[in-house]
Amino acid sequence: MKAPHQQNHLNPRKLFTYTLYVLIPLALLHYYLLKPYPAPARFSPQIHTSLDPSSHIHPHDDDDDFVQPPEKELKLQNQTLPRCDYSAGTWIHDERGPLYNGTSCNTIKENQNCMAHGRPDTGYLYWRWRPTECSLPRFDPLSFLQLIRNRHLAFIGDSLARNQAESLMCLLASGSHPELVYQDSTENRYRRWIFGSHNATVSIYWSPFLVKRIEKNEKEGIRHNRVFLDSFDERWISEFESMDVIVFSLGHWFLIPGIYYENEQIIGCHVCSEFNHTEIGFFDVFRKAVTRTLEEVRRRHVEGDDRRKRLVAVTTFTQAHFEGEWDKAGSCAKKEPYKEGEVKMEYTAGEMRRTVVDALESLRGNGDGSRVNGLQFEAVDVTRLALLRPDGHPGPYMYPNPFENGKAGDRVQNDCVHWCMPGPVDTFNEILWQLIAQPGLFS
Ligand SMILES: *[C@@H]1O[C@H](CO)[C@@H](O)[C@H](O)[C@H]1NC(C)=O
Ligand SMILES: *[C@@H]1O[C@H](CO)[C@@H](O)[C@H](O)[C@H]1NC(C)=O
Ligand SMILES: *[C@@H]1O[C@H](CO)[C@@H](O)[C@H](O)[C@H]1NC(C)=O
Ligand SMILES: *[C@@H]1O[C@H](CO)[C@@H](O)[C@H](O)[C@H]1NC(C)=O
Repeated sequence: MKAPHQQNHLNPRKLFTYTLYVLIPLALLHYYLLKPYPAPARFSPQIHTSLDPSSHIHPHDDDDDFVQPPEKELKLQNQTLPRCDYSAGTWIHDERGPLYNGTSCNTIKENQNCMAHGRPDTGYLYWRWRPTECSLPRFDPLSFLQLIRNRHLAFIGDSLARNQAESLMCLLASGSHPELVYQDSTENRYRRWIFGSHNATVSIYWSPFLVKRIEKNEKEGIRHNRVFLDSFDERWISEFESMDVIVFSLGHWFLIPGIYYENEQIIGCHVCSEFNHTEIGFFDVFRKAVTRTLEEVRRRHVEGDDRRKRLVAVTTFTQAHFEGEWDKAGSCAKKEPYKEGEVKMEYTAGEMRRTVVDALESLRGNGDGSRVNGLQFEAVDVTRLALLRPDGHPGPYMYPNPFENGKAGDRVQNDCVHWCMPGPVDTFNEILWQLIAQPGLFS
């Protein structure tokens, strides 16, 4: 538990951290965290207007494109995987390379399709995370699909949640064909696919604070998000009952300007010198959003169908890798992982991670990892392994051929927050797979 004084005022170190975050990547974060999401070039014709998964099951008899998967299901190689701390380990070279690429998978967001955008180096594709305590097997799409057969896996959060969801879609699509069954009309914030071979559903829900919010609108001069820390986001929570696996991923939106409410009163704001409200930073409001959401999820689970099993996972914060001048667009030009000791975790990233890990730990009950009525809480604890991968971001390759016509590197917009696909984000899903595969949960 945190000491009360840590929660209630800013110590100089925190203040420094806020300032740093405000000055360096804010403009960049704004730019691509908030940019509307372009519609994909092509998608399945069967688009529905409801997010209710039960209404999307289609027979595939007349679908020529549908590839029937092998009858025989691959069994998980080891049914008794021990509990492992996947966060401790090292990146080791791996000749095998990724399971998919920018041409074999069509759910890669354009800005993360580094290969297609002309990124010339490929070394970043040949690394594998080796945990210190145990093994992390190479992703196996059919084993994963077998675990979520007749189940619904939902990613809920910000653009990093979407990045991880799209990575999982590419990994799974290397084994079976998904059908896009829902997509919101304009900004593509909500989508759903079904793998007909396994009746397995994967959804993405946009919810960058998890709780209720009114998003900023730069066009109308509204620079601040308004976040209601004691109200839930109905868009996803109203569909909670249908979800068997939930992966939350959030954090970066708490760093940008926001006004925070409780009980319909403003309790403070962040990056808000133009208002006469208390600057409350982001650690406390982040902690409240996460813990209240997880507590509500537990409450709804316990009150729901008592035979249902659920995994609720939170992907931990990953820090940006911008380097260079404070007042210029930073970049992330490294082509290899950092070696042990070569990089230090930012205070902010460490605190954001710890907030999530502590919240999950206290919800787990006796601290022994036991399930509460079939509800398993887990962290996809990737803060450290992601820290070591400055080479895994799109950098300038968020746009096609950024250096054509002699454009200079320092004037090109860089993305050093999201991950190339394929890339290190695929490892997040290898860890997720192991968490889902825990004995007695779904298998
Ligand atoms: C897999 O199972 C075998 C025997 O059942 C056991 O000896 C081995 O340690 C297990 N390996 C892992 C990674 O759990
Ligand atoms: C992409 O993957 C497909 C299918 O695995 C393969 O045939 C193709 O050669 C790959 N392309 C590149 C550029 O690696
Ligand atoms: C398909 O999966 C959904 C959950 O996503 C489940 O509610 C439904 O019962 C499944 N259908 C069949 C035929 O098992
Ligand atoms: C700002 O808040 C302080 C303390 O609540 C108050 O004394 C002051 O009058 C306010 N200033 C403005 C401009 O509203």
